Amino acid sequence: MPARILSGNAIRDQIYGELTQEIAALAREGIRPGLAAVLVGENPASQIYVRSKIAACEQLGLGSWQYTLPATISTQELLALIEELNLRNDVDGILVQLPLPAQVNAKRVLEAVDPAKDVDGFHPVNLGRLVSGRPGLVACTPAGAMEILRRSGIALEGANAVVVGRSDIVGKPMALLLMHANATVTICHSKTRDLPGVVRQADIVVAAIGRAAMVEPDWVRPGATVIDVGINRITDAAEAERIFAKFPAKLAQFREKGAVLVGDVHPGVAEIAGAITPVPGGVGPLTIAMLMSNTVKAARLRRAHAALFASPGTAPGAVAAKP
Ligand code: GUN
Repeated sequence: MPARILSGNAIRDQIYGELTQEIAALAREGIRPGLAAVLVGENPASQIYVRSKIAACEQLGLGSWQYTLPATISTQELLALIEELNLRNDVDGILVQLPLPAQVNAKRVLEAVDPAKDVDGFHPVNLGRLVSGRPGLVACTPAGAMEILRRSGIALEGANAVVVGRSDIVGKPMALLLMHANATVTICHSKTRDLPGVVRQADIVVAAIGRAAMVEPDWVRPGATVIDVGINRITDAAEAERIFAKFPAKLAQFREKGAVLVGDVHPGVAEIAGAITPVPGGVGPLTIAMLMSNTVKAARLRRAHAALFASPGTAPGAVAAKP
């Protein structure tokens, strides 16, 4: 029986409906959450992602600013911009689109973002909060994958979850989120012994490796839930013919356009799994929805924090500064 398709577009629309109400409530208090997106160089995929993020802000009525910088920029110049954005009160979220050029110290740049404005959840402070189960801003792609699981009613407690891929951006935070939801989590990577055998134990498989169609149908236990985080653009005809041999509509699409998208999961898995996210239209739309959600959350939390510390020296229990 073909798997239930877990549409990210439908869940994104649901989240946008909720955010619209929240944004309207903030507007009544005179608050308009705002996102600053920093794009360095001319990576075509990054350009598309940043454009989509700015468009989502505009659709929801959030403030947005795009900074497009030359690929030759230095770490110091980028740090100066981040510092300026950290200080601006109309900027609630700061996003530095990755990858950054090789001469830029990406870790230093990500650490320079104020953790209160770190809507990507990449700052070590927010990662530490996630590890220790404290509230904070969580990376958008894994947070979006969790929204799909939760809102689709997939049972997580006690489930065997296998995360394939251990990146800082997806695999590691995904494993932590599943663990906090009381799943039993295994993280696999390129050195894992008998990867198909480990994946076969899973009630929930999260594929986040970045390799086209790597998770094969015979790796997946019948009825398992499969979350496909990968987005790979296939331009090689032989590879397209191999992956989509039994999918004539996709092959026709390839022949027409010269390219086709495939996830990290082989399309044949949809015949075996109980539920699966499509590519495109699965996790992708949720990444942007969670970025919007994090921006609204950052706007609220920053103001709550500012109000708490608004009257220096007069707060109950305040300790006078030493002369
Ligand atoms: N590059 C790939 N994924 C992401 C993401 O989620 N955020 C940012 N800023 N860059 C990325």
